[in-house]
Amino acid sequence: MTAVDEIKTRIHIEDLVNEIPSVKLRKSGKNYTGFCPFHENKRTPAFVVFPDSGTWRCFGQCNEGGDIFKFVMKRDGCDFPQALKILAAKAGVELEPLTPQRKEEDEHQEKLRQLLEETVLFYQHYLLQNVQGKPALDYLTKRGLTSETISSFGLGYAPPGWDTLFTHFAERGYTQEDLKETGLLSENPEKERLYDRFRNRIMIPIRDAQGRMAGFGARILDPNDVPKFLNSPQTALFDKGRLLYGMDHARKSIREKDQAVIVEGYLDVILLHQAGFTNTVSPMGTALTEDQLRQLQRLTRKMILALDADAAGAKATMRGLEIARQSLDRGDEVVFDARGLLHEESRLRADLRVTAIPEGMDPDEVVLRNPAEWEAILRNAKPIVQHVMDTLAAGRDLNDPKAKDEIARQIIPLIEDLASPIERDTYRSRLAVLLHVNEESLLQLQTGGTGGGKPASRRRVKPSRREPGIPPAELKNPLRLLENHCLRLLLFKPDLFSQLEDELKNNRFPALSVDDFQSTESQEAFLLLVEAVRQLDVSVQEYLADHQPETLQTFLQEINTGISLEKTPDERIYDDLYDTLTRLRLLQIREAIDTIRFLVSDLAAWQEDQIDQRESLREYYRKMDDLTGERFRLEKALQPEINLQ
Ligand code: GTP
Ligand code: MN
Repeated sequence: MTAVDEIKTRIHIEDLVNEIPSVKLRKSGKNYTGFCPFHENKRTPAFVVFPDSGTWRCFGQCNEGGDIFKFVMKRDGCDFPQALKILAAKAGVELEPLTPQRKEEDEHQEKLRQLLEETVLFYQHYLLQNVQGKPALDYLTKRGLTSETISSFGLGYAPPGWDTLFTHFAERGYTQEDLKETGLLSENPEKERLYDRFRNRIMIPIRDAQGRMAGFGARILDPNDVPKFLNSPQTALFDKGRLLYGMDHARKSIREKDQAVIVEGYLDVILLHQAGFTNTVSPMGTALTEDQLRQLQRLTRKMILALDADAAGAKATMRGLEIARQSLDRGDEVVFDARGLLHEESRLRADLRVTAIPEGMDPDEVVLRNPAEWEAILRNAKPIVQHVMDTLAAGRDLNDPKAKDEIARQIIPLIEDLASPIERDTYRSRLAVLLHVNEESLLQLQTGGTGGGKPASRRRVKPSRREPGIPPAELKNPLRLLENHCLRLLLFKPDLFSQLEDELKNNRFPALSVDDFQSTESQEAFLLLVEAVRQLDVSVQEYLADHQPETLQTFLQEINTGISLEKTPDERIYDDLYDTLTRLRLLQIREAIDTIRFLVSDLAAWQEDQIDQRESLREYYRKMDDLTGERFRLEKALQPEINLQ
């Protein structure tokens, strides 16, 4: 038994959930029902705990679920290894002892963090207590930062000398190597000399979501210096693609407000927090990555991107759109651009909106001028497709047929990416109105080659009759076995990924996503696989071997059992994969439908007067309708095979 399974047997999901009193967990039959702790709603008890499978699910707004690990990840906004640590401690389970090498690495990282903590104090001292820091402090005050804010964000000042920091820490016993590894020193390769990386700059400590030091962002004080911002270099601790500035302060608030606001600059984050908009974060001056979006998504579905309104911003959106359309098929990393986010929108099921800041202003200026104005800007944020539509149409002559055609060809694929048919319809109508064309002609564009879209050769319509592939795993715990089998096939032949994506899309089924898996281990393995397929540097297998976290090793070995796949033709493996996924989804949907029936019958048993029976029923039936439709389509996809109960 893996440590994960051991923990699962010792910690009961209902006990874990019960620790949150607001859920008001109630036993009902063999399950429990209550109010979802992850979204604001005290009127519909749509949160269900299943002791038998050790899982939970919100049948209300979140529509999300998982096991105990996922619960802690959502509750604490942490990642899987952290949740594992937390629950292992709680269960009294010893995690696999770290390899000596790994242990050394951990201790080393801890030491580097400690060094960074001391550096925060060092820079703080120069800002607040040294005469050299006076201009920096004056500058921050002039920008509207209170001394409270300066201290709560740990801001500091790096003195102008070339070796002030170097000397200070060398005297305290830190080696050159340590200092270099934290990114605090730079090296002149010709003279082989080390010197302070940050000089005469305002220092902004950057911490991870748990508040641990990761590095610094540093802003110039002298307007003639370049670059305007200098960050810590990429190190083990400072990973630009994963960190979000302000996350340590914003986490709780993002969850409570059920909304995250993403701005571009560090100073914007700081001043918005000061004004009470504490659900604000920013990337590290780079494109927003999928990893960052996923971290936010653990806390909320609703994200607002507050982008600069300038021409450069609009151009960047357009360019990003083009680049992404050409590159997404090849599986490039999804980045902070219209198409990338849109792609995320359907897959992550996030509600993404874009807001424009008044031309020539930064969020910090807006909020300092008038907090109500910032609030209004957030309120008026536009859904992302709408934003792209408006951006593309701006300044174009919409009577010119060529321009219309160009715009339509760019927008249609984005609309097609949307998960909801209602949303797709709505935006198609809006696009028709915008371009003064009828929807028919837009629909015609839809199936043809859409400019930079997918090459026709990759489209393939499968006959519905399938060869029975490798026999599906025995059905003791069907869900888990199907999950594992699906993963095993994908890990064995990652090339099948894109074929599967295409077929799902052609058959109008949702894309394969992390939500198809219920156990956190499967989810983590799936995400790793996606990462591996997306990167282009090394082969998928090589990437998996290099990046496989220790927490997944046993699991990945375990699922790789059963009939050898080596001799099975690709075609059969693919059919088996498609089939397994369909069965998995069907099983999940059937269980969900059963549970909603149960929720409906359970509603009467609630004595709470604040429960809105009618609203609750409406919500349940709405969900039931969606699920029933989907079930029908999945059952049809499996025909003429016999249904799997
Ligand atoms: P102020 O100009 O002081 O208001 O700072 P800001 O944070 O608003 O900066 P700006 O709008 O110019 O840039 C937004 C973000 O982009 C910054 O917070 C940085 O993260 C990043 N950035 C801007 N300029 C540079 C640069 O020269 N180098 C790097 N690495 N990042 C930059
Ligand atoms: Mn600014």
